[in-house]
Amino acid sequence: MKTLIKNIKELVQVEDNPKLKVCGKDMSELKTIKNAYLLIENDKIIDFGPMQSIEEFNSDKVVNATNRLVFPSFCDSHTHLVYAGSREIEYIDKIKGLSYEEIAERGGGILNSAKRLQETSEDELFEDAMKRLDEIISMGTGAVEIKSGYGLNTESEIKMLKVIKRLKENSPLTIKSNFLGAHGVPLEYRGRQGDFVDLVINEMIPQVAKDNLADFIDVFCDKGFFTVNETDRILTQGVKYGMRPKIHANELDYSGGIQIAVKHNALSCDHLEFVGDEEIECLKNSETMPTVLPGAAFFLNMRLSPVRKMMDAGLPVAMASDFNPGSSPSGNMQTIVTFACVNYRMTPQEAFNATTINSAYAMDLSKTHGSIARGKIANFYITKEIPSLEYMPYYYGINKVDKVFLNGKEY
Ligand code: NIG
Ligand code: FE
Repeated sequence: MKTLIKNIKELVQVEDNPKLKVCGKDMSELKTIKNAYLLIENDKIIDFGPMQSIEEFNSDKVVNATNRLVFPSFCDSHTHLVYAGSREIEYIDKIKGLSYEEIAERGGGILNSAKRLQETSEDELFEDAMKRLDEIISMGTGAVEIKSGYGLNTESEIKMLKVIKRLKENSPLTIKSNFLGAHGVPLEYRGRQGDFVDLVINEMIPQVAKDNLADFIDVFCDKGFFTVNETDRILTQGVKYGMRPKIHANELDYSGGIQIAVKHNALSCDHLEFVGDEEIECLKNSETMPTVLPGAAFFLNMRLSPVRKMMDAGLPVAMASDFNPGSSPSGNMQTIVTFACVNYRMTPQEAFNATTINSAYAMDLSKTHGSIARGKIANFYITKEIPSLEYMPYYYGINKVDKVFLNGKEY
């Protein structure tokens, strides 16, 4: 089955020689072709180019994209989108001045979500998460990483990971799963956090690995959550069981999380509000993708990660939604691009690189996703009639995506 998309006003992020990630100054380059075509066969991109170079193609389906742009689908490399209920009351507490840590100390935050998740059936969690997946598909996401971490006991963590497995089997999105057993300390383990870490290491990780339920392993390594030493132990065990680390780090302090992520050759370390020269030095010459979550920083009204400083140092930067019920109740990657431009002063070109190819790298998918390249999976979207690429972040707050193709099929 061949599908031809023709008369594309601008085909964005084309690559003849695909790269696995884009670093530093190169992030400002985003190659496009004006008045272009895109040819796909089954689930793959097989060709693209300017309309005038098009040969007579025998395609089964033709889509006319006059006045519309085509982009590779967003890759959202950090979400917690399997959850039960919502937490708008805490959001009001935050408006009244309570900090994220204070809310957590009162049993709110992650513990609140954990209590609700423990009481919710696997089927219900699956149905709710499928709706969220449909929502993000309609806004242009084509691949997503989903974490556990609202279980906080072995049974519920396994339940979450089984839900993610079912999502993988039932959704057209490409999905990666991340085991985040160490997301918060359950109330019954207060004062003996080490015992909970032991539980994660000795009971949870082997069970998760036995059923092959996680691609990655995560820890919330930060002030008030898990220490560097605990993170070190958990990641050591995760790696032993075949899970590549991909962790939460330096959101609340210079926690040492970046250093420990790099030590374990993490695929990414995420949040990064607290990054200084030492952390930047550590990330250079590593394979770890610095990943910033602009939605969480916006929603918690936090200090911003020094993204420009990282790019000036030659580092790549990825961005993801952090879709979760507490700190970022939105999986809209178009808004993330707007935040990238407005709050972090990134150009739209840099912001698109951060939310496609670099975020694909951050979930080990950049060989097959994250740009328009021959042989890559045909995950892309056609916009509504819009004047330019820059209009995407500029005209914020509404969905500019019209048609979505995933695995070569219009969805
Ligand atoms: O990425 N930082 C840790 N975890 C989530 C928040 C989860 C929650 O508040 O429910 C985050 O922001
Ligand atoms: Fe997170």
